[in-house]
Order: sequence, then C-alpha cells, then structure tokens
Amino acid sequence: MTKPLEGIKIIDFTHVQAGPACTQLLAWFGADVIKVERPGSGDVTRNQLRDIPDADALYFTMLNSNKKSLTLDTKKPEGKEVLEKLIRESDVLVENFGPGALDRMGFSWERLNELNPKMIVASVKGFSDGHHYDDLKVYENVAQCAGGAASTTGFWDGPPTISAAALGDSNTGMHLAIGILTALLGRDKTGKGQKVAVSMQDSVLNLCRVKLRDQQRLERVGYLEEYPQYPHGEFSDVVPRGGNAGGGGQPGWVLKCKGWETDPNAYIYFTIQGHAWEPICKVLGKPEWINDPAYKTAEARQPHIFEIFGTIEAWLADKTKFEAVDILRQFDIPCAPVLTMKELANDPSLRASGTIVEVPHKKRGSYLTVGSPIKFSDMKPEVTASPLLGEHTDEVLTSLGYSKQDIFNLREVKAV
Ligand code: COA
Repeated sequence: MTKPLEGIKIIDFTHVQAGPACTQLLAWFGADVIKVERPGSGDVTRNQLRDIPDADALYFTMLNSNKKSLTLDTKKPEGKEVLEKLIRESDVLVENFGPGALDRMGFSWERLNELNPKMIVASVKGFSDGHHYDDLKVYENVAQCAGGAASTTGFWDGPPTISAAALGDSNTGMHLAIGILTALLGRDKTGKGQKVAVSMQDSVLNLCRVKLRDQQRLERVGYLEEYPQYPHGEFSDVVPRGGNAGGGGQPGWVLKCKGWETDPNAYIYFTIQGHAWEPICKVLGKPEWINDPAYKTAEARQPHIFEIFGTIEAWLADKTKFEAVDILRQFDIPCAPVLTMKELANDPSLRASGTIVEVPHKKRGSYLTVGSPIKFSDMKPEVTASPLLGEHTDEVLTSLGYSKQDIFNLREVKAV
C-alpha cells in the first residue's frame, strides 16, 4: 500500500516528547524520518525511567516508532558536513532544541534556506518568537501553567492543577504536524520552503479557547452559570477552577458507582443533555420531575444541580460503572465509565482498531503503544519498532554517497 507521505524525507532533530510526537505521526503516514542523535547518548528519553536495564525506555520507544536513527555530532565539522548533505536532499527539518541551539550549531533559518530553499524548517519552542519569555526552556507542566490550563484545572479550593494529558508536549507536536503538512501543500504551489513555528504556550492556549470565552463572559455578566460556583458561590474577576463541571451548555459531573469506597476509579461521567431530561427522569424512577417547573428546564435545574447529581448517585449505588453505562446508553444519555490505563490497555475494541498496538522490539521484546488515532479508509498506519541508537547510520551515510572508508573515518573522529 502506498502511503501519502512516501517520498517525503524528514530530518528529525527532535528530542523528549513534543517534537518526536510530531515526526512519529508523519512517519506512520509514510514519511522517511531520520532521527539525528548525538553519538553515544542519543535522545535523553532512551535512558529516562527505564524498566529494563540496557534497553531503550518506553518513553523513547512509544514516541519514535517507524523512524531511522542516524548518530551524528553536528558540532564537529565532519558532522556538519554530513548534515549539510542531508539538508540538501530533505524536504523537512523538525527540531525542538532550546532557544538558539540551532543557530549556535550554525544552522540558522537563513543558512538552512540557503542550503535548500525548498526545505520546510519546523520548530517547537516554549514561547513564540519575540515573546518576552522566548529565552526560556520549557517542559510540559511549565507550558500547561503558561498556557492557561493549570489556572482553570482542578477544584476551586485546591491549587492550580496539571492535566495528565500532554497538552504542552504531544499537543504541540500535533499542531506542528498540521503546520508542516500545510507548508508542504504550500510548497507544491510556490516551490518554496518556509519556516513553521509552534510554541507550547500557544498550543495549550488553543485548547483552552473556551476558557478565554468564559473570561469575556465573566467580565460582561459577572458570573458563569455552568460552573459549580453558580448561583450559590462567589466569582472573582478571573475564570475559576470548575472541578469536573461540563464545559459547555450541558451540566455534567463525575459520579460514584458501586465499589467507589475501595476502587478509586469506580465512577462514570454523567451528562445532563437538555433533550435527554425525560429519559433521565424515567431511568432514575423520577417521572414526576419531567414536568415539574423546578426541574423541567436547564435553567430551573441549575440552582440544585448537585441535588440532582446526588439522586443519580443513589441510583448508581448498586451498579458498577460498566453496568450503569450499559443501561444509560439505551436512553441516549452521553456518559462513559472512568477508564484506567489497565482497562484501556486490555480493551478489545482499541486493540481491534489499532489504537492500542503491541510492537515487537529487538531488545525489549514486545511493548504496548498508542497507534494512530487518525483512521483512513485507504490506509492503515502500521506501527514498527523505534530504532536502536545509530541503527541506520551506515544505511543513511551510504545513501548520501559515503563509502565504507569514509564512514570508518567519520567514526574515527567520533562524528558519527
Ligand atoms: N550533536 C551535537 N550537539 C547536539 C546534537 C547533536 N546531534 N543534538 C543536540 N545537540 C546540542 C545542541 O546543539 C544544544 O547545544 P548548546 O546548548 O550547547 O547549543 C544541546 O545539545 C541541546 O540543548 P537543549 O535543547 O537546550 O537541551 P536541554 O536538555 O538543555 O533542554 C528542553 C531540553 C526540552 C527543555 C529544551 O530543548 C527546550 O526548551 N526545547 C523547546 C521546547 C520543547 O520542545 N520542550 C518540550 C520537550 S518535550
């Protein structure tokens, strides 16, 4: 099967998570992704949180599948020369070094554009160019704080809270992938490469769009009716943390199910969608609520929404999260069990769809990873193992025209 990105050559100068998540996605879709790593050490995640001695850590294997690994010291003149050759024949260079690192290495945007005017140069940084924090190095949680996610996540009586979802890292990588694909389409029209830059702060903020909506509503009317603070609590002049409240027009909450006393994940998320009010009342055994003016409309329900959630919890007390969802789904009520990583890893539907995949690896044996969340009718992205450090060095150098003797010489000076 021909993959849409076959023939696109990508220099993957990325490390940790934000950049690797982007290039992994492009590799799944057929791009030839060559990960350039420092000889001897490579991407720092190869060694981070190892669960098997001497084998690449899952942090690395789960973000670098379908790639090649070329070891190259790009600070040595011999290494720079190899990189220049690679640049001349590649379509994209992706990097997420700290601010200024690529320039210090001698590969500024101007130099890259001079070497290959058709090349797309894609970068992730913590903050956008020209931002007053643009000199900062940034990791996931820093980005969540800088992008508005932390101040709006958690409970009102607790501190700002970090989400487990990689809003700063993988999310930024996904934004970058969209930017790269857009620039590739643009190049088809203009014949020119361009610089694509995505900041982690901007990518987090993009996902917090509705919180900026709420800030403006709050400033205009002084309250936010879908937040638990309404109508009994106080609002300040900034968007508060809303706990587990539903973010849109449908109130929702995480509700206890049978066994919650001992199982920290015996919960479902329950949403009270307006038009589902009648079935909700029927399923709860509260038909009298259907036309009661105190319950009939969303507006009437809001002041005592937690009393309603309490009634639903009483109904849930003798049902597991799975039993509850099996009943509620028959009434078209938007809900889901709170699933653990163990349950997701073993979910037959996710295995069948290729969202959870088991990948054989030369050193680790097989490991689980998350496959492509994007499904196509004409292509099924296959996930292959991440490369060992330098596994493809000889192959890539040979394809660039280096002889065995040249490669030996490069090894002698520790450039590869
Ligand atoms: N050969 C020689 N040198 C190499 C190399 C290679 N193949 N690959 C990287 N290097 C060098 C770089 O030139 C740079 O050297 P310099 O600082 O002397 O100029 C250094 O290795 C890498 O620096 P940096 O990227 O700043 O690494 P760090 O470990 O200090 O910081 C981050 C890590 C993630 C905080 C930082 O890279 C960053 O802020 N990146 C942008 C935001 C980002 O993506 N963060 C999320 C990561 S998930």
